[in-house]
Parts: sequence; C-alpha cells; structure tokens
Amino acid sequence: MSTKLDTAQLRQLDQAHYLHPFTNLQTYSQHGGRIISRAEHVYIYDSDDNKLLDGMSGLWCCNLGYSQTSIKDAITAQLQELPFYNSFFQCANQPAVELARALVEVTPAQFNHVFFTNSGSEANDTNLRLVQRYYNLLGKPEKNLIISRRNAYHGSTIASASLGGMSAMHQQTRGLDYIHHISQPYWFGEGADEDPQDFGIRVARELEQKIDELGEARVAAFIAEPVQGAGGVIIPPDSYWPEIRRICQQRDILLIMDEVICGFGRTGNWFGCQTYGLEPDLMTFAKAVTNGYQPLGGVMVGDKVADVLLSHDGEFAHGLTYSGHPAACAAGLATLKLLRKKTSWKPPPASSPRISRSACNRCATTVSWARCAASACSAPWNWCATNTHASVSRQTLRGLCIAATRPMPPA
Ligand SMILES: Cc1ncc(COP(=O)(O)O)c(C=O)c1O
Repeated sequence: MSTKLDTAQLRQLDQAHYLHPFTNLQTYSQHGGRIISRAEHVYIYDSDDNKLLDGMSGLWCCNLGYSQTSIKDAITAQLQELPFYNSFFQCANQPAVELARALVEVTPAQFNHVFFTNSGSEANDTNLRLVQRYYNLLGKPEKNLIISRRNAYHGSTIASASLGGMSAMHQQTRGLDYIHHISQPYWFGEGADEDPQDFGIRVARELEQKIDELGEARVAAFIAEPVQGAGGVIIPPDSYWPEIRRICQQRDILLIMDEVICGFGRTGNWFGCQTYGLEPDLMTFAKAVTNGYQPLGGVMVGDKVADVLLSHDGEFAHGLTYSGHPAACAAGLATLKLLRKKTSWKPPPASSPRISRSACNRCATTVSWARCAASACSAPWNWCATNTHASVSRQTLRGLCIAATRPMPPA
C-alpha cells in the first residue's frame, strides 16, 4: 500500500477530487466527510481511530462482519491463481462454475441457473433483458411493460432507477416509459385509519388493477423487494404477499423478487421469498453474497424462463466484462460455505439430483422434480409446469415434507 496519509491530507484529497454517490456534492466539497480506515467484527474505525458500531453492515453487505478470514484468504488465493479472465467467448473459470452450483443449491428449487453481474443495479438491468428475451422467444414481443412500486429501490443505473420508485431519482433521470408504478404496502405511513390487513389487500389489488389498465397481454412482469429496504424497511401487512401471490398465479406475468437486501438470511430464511411463501421466476441478489468483500451480483433464473432461453437458438446479447469474476466468485463461495455452516442447510443427497425433468403423465408438459433439502427427509417434490397436473399433489408434498427445514412450494 502507498504511504499512510493523515486525516487532514485524506480529507483534502477527498474534497478536491472524489464525487461521492448519493451525496450533496457542493456541501461535501466544502465540508468533507469521515475517512474509514479499518474494520473488525462489527466495528469500523475512522482515520482518527474512533471506533464505531456499524449498524448498517457496510451497506447491508457484511452480514457476517468484517473479520471473516476464510473469505479474505479465498480472494487472495484466487488472485494468485487466476486474477481475471472473462466469461465471454465460450470460457468459464472454476470459482464461477462452483458458485453457480452453490447458489442453485441454496436457492429455492425452481432456480437452476444464474447470470452473474457486478452489482444489484446491473442485475436488475439484466432482469429487464431476460424478461424481454423470454417473451420475444415466446412470440409475444408486445408483452414489454413492467410494474414496480413507488418508493422501491432497485438500483441506480437508468433502468434500475426507473424500476425503483424514488421520486428524487426520477426527478434526475428520464425514466423508461415502459415501467409503471403502483403503491407501496406502507401501512404505518400511508394507511391512516384503515385496518392494516384491509390496507394490505387493497394495495396488493392495485397490481391487478394496473394489469387490467395496461392490458394483461402487454404486462411482462412485476418486481418487488420482499421487505423494502432503502425505502425505509417497510414490512408489509400479513395480507399483502398472499394476495400478490394469488394475482401472479392467476395472471400471465413473471414475478421478480429483488433480494439484494433481504437475501442471505436477513429475514430469518435464506431468502425473503421463502419467508413470504413466494415462488419468483427471477431473483436478484448482490451485497451479502460475498459478505461485501468483493463486488458481485446476479440473477437467479427460474426454470420457467431458463427452459425457454435454453431451448432456442440465438445469442443472448447481454454481458458485462466482469461477469463471473474469479476473485469475486471465490469470495462468494467462501461466504456461502460460512453461511451454510452457520445455518441448518444440508446438501442434497449425492444420489438424488436436486432437479431432473420428465414429462407430466397427464399433459406431457415439463415436470420439475426436486428433493427436499433436509437430510432427514428425502421426500420428492414434483409438480407439473402447468401447476395443474402434478402426479403428486402439492398438498401431499406439504404433508410428506412436514419435517423439512426448507419451506415447501406454496400450495
Ligand atoms: C433492493 C435493492 N436492489 C438493488 C440495489 C442496487 O444494488 P447496487 O448498489 O449493488 O447496484 C440495492 C442497493 O442498495 C437494493 O437495496
């Protein structure tokens, strides 16, 4: 590292040259900020050696704190072995391949594929690209409208800022005109005298109304955070998500869950969609996947979308130079290893592939098969992709897997 600078020198350089994100640039250039020098466990230290409790985990990133040696060692070792190579042009690297597999193992059963990005914003941009490609391949290019929520946060690229519903950002960005917003489920701030559960249902039904207003044939997807993070840690009333789930099941739209904050344990399960019994088609992750030690994000792509992408010829014309960066993926692998150790997660039995495919015995469409991830419980889950002809009903599956530590697919 270069010679250590003292606080005054650092502040002077910072104010003179460094434009900070989400900051009043004029005020900052005049008054500066705090220089963070080091971190340990859940504490950060500034350049004057003040010790501060980091209640924000970096920026919702360092769920395991700052002193995880195994993650740091994994990054260092990977930098020695292969510091970088791209994943374009039919190339891959071991940490990226292994992390893809590990993510498939810890995410809900419908996810068997991942697209890597460097951030949550890029992952949400990727969602838009995936959704459009999916409907184009299905011969429905007119299905290109996205519904999001006011006061949501989905990132700060133009597409992800448009997906988000933060008015200050919209004032500074010409948002994409194919993204529409409905109300947030913020009973405490916007519910007034209404019963919280009635409020939850009413606000959820705005999704249905918006689909009708725009036309179901034109609406591609609904995107939401399980719990709105940056918007103010908004926990919806209990009635909200079941109603959204009903609407998504009845309408021909994709559900995208943005798990950039909620993922990797924040809601008590691995993912917020499990806490709320939701089955998203696409799932955004970032931040805690590497415990914040390396920039990495991505999209878990559910079978419904992946099957279409994989069964059609032609290039998916989207990518990022650092997608699947070996050092970032090594950090992700080491992080998942720690998280698995600290939770009840068990690997699926080696003899039973987690997911295999066959045709439904009633309608011949694809059937997804999966096994319960709890080691003591090897009950199979299987369901027809149409959700109507499962050869073992979901009800039975729920009964069979009562001992499972993983939530079952919702009925
Ligand atoms: C829910 C959510 N989505 C997306 C993002 C954007 O992630 P990034 O800042 O890594 O681009 C954030 C960032 O805080 C977020 O909270």
